[in-house]
Amino acid sequence: MAILEAQNLWKTFGRTAVLKNIDLTLEKGQALSIIGSSGSGKTTLLRCLNFLEQPDKGIIRVNGETLFDAADPSTQSEASIRKKRLHFGLVFQSFNLFPQYTALENVMLAPKLLAAEQPNFKAGKKEIYARIEAQAKELLNQMGLSSRMANYPHQLSGGQCQRVAIARALALHPDILCFDEPTSALDPELTGEVLRVIRELADQNTTMIIVTHEMAFARDVADHVIFMDEGVIVEQGDPEEVFENPREERTKQFLSRYKQG
Ligand SMILES: Nc1ncnc2c1ncn2[C@@H]1O[C@H](COP(=O)(O)OP(=O)(O)O)[C@@H](O)[C@H]1O
Ligand SMILES: [Mg+2]
Repeated sequence: MAILEAQNLWKTFGRTAVLKNIDLTLEKGQALSIIGSSGSGKTTLLRCLNFLEQPDKGIIRVNGETLFDAADPSTQSEASIRKKRLHFGLVFQSFNLFPQYTALENVMLAPKLLAAEQPNFKAGKKEIYARIEAQAKELLNQMGLSSRMANYPHQLSGGQCQRVAIARALALHPDILCFDEPTSALDPELTGEVLRVIRELADQNTTMIIVTHEMAFARDVADHVIFMDEGVIVEQGDPEEVFENPREERTKQFLSRYKQG
């Protein structure tokens, strides 16, 4: 069964339709890359899938459950949206770490807040916090940051900050990890270290959506690629196929622009 299914998503800002009839499916354990020019609607699509933006039309299902249906107001209550967002982990271009917290504290913050909302929290607080700390340390280890846990964001490179942000997104055990241009704010020499950890996550069958302008990476890391232009999915398929033999003229033009740099 598909872990994520979107049907006929539409989103309009003012009079401009930014997403038009988007259908997509993501299987558990797969990585999907989304490519396309700036302004083609990639971020808006991610924001709609993550319930940060409400589509005007369409249906979103996670694990077979309808979490959003534009035609069914009972799926749109503010109260339920926070819970629905927990299905998704988000990593943005700009890290968004809290500057006053260490790397470790940044990773522990959301799990702690969430734990505090559970019944019986008070009685088990010590053990719960210990478990959250152990998990956060393990994630930071996995990101190659074992010696950096006590550092504040200003003491870390951009690549290290982004790896903290990835650990933070993983700390809530999302079903789907979403990246929106995770290396666009980084110097070229730091891009590789971030792409490397994303690739490792893909090798471990982490379910992911990756919006990126790194074409070689989009091709290598993903099981499936989508090319968007002006709010529509122009072409999608096996990355090898789409990059080697694009069927649509617009895809060809886009890819050849990239080859020229
Ligand atoms: N909150 C918003 N209000 C109005 N227009 C928006 C908003 N967010 C995005 N847009 C517009 O939607 C289009 C798609 O933007 P975006 O999804 O950010 O594209 P991409 O991520 O592919 O660069 C752009 O024309 C952008 O100006
Ligand atoms: Mg964008």
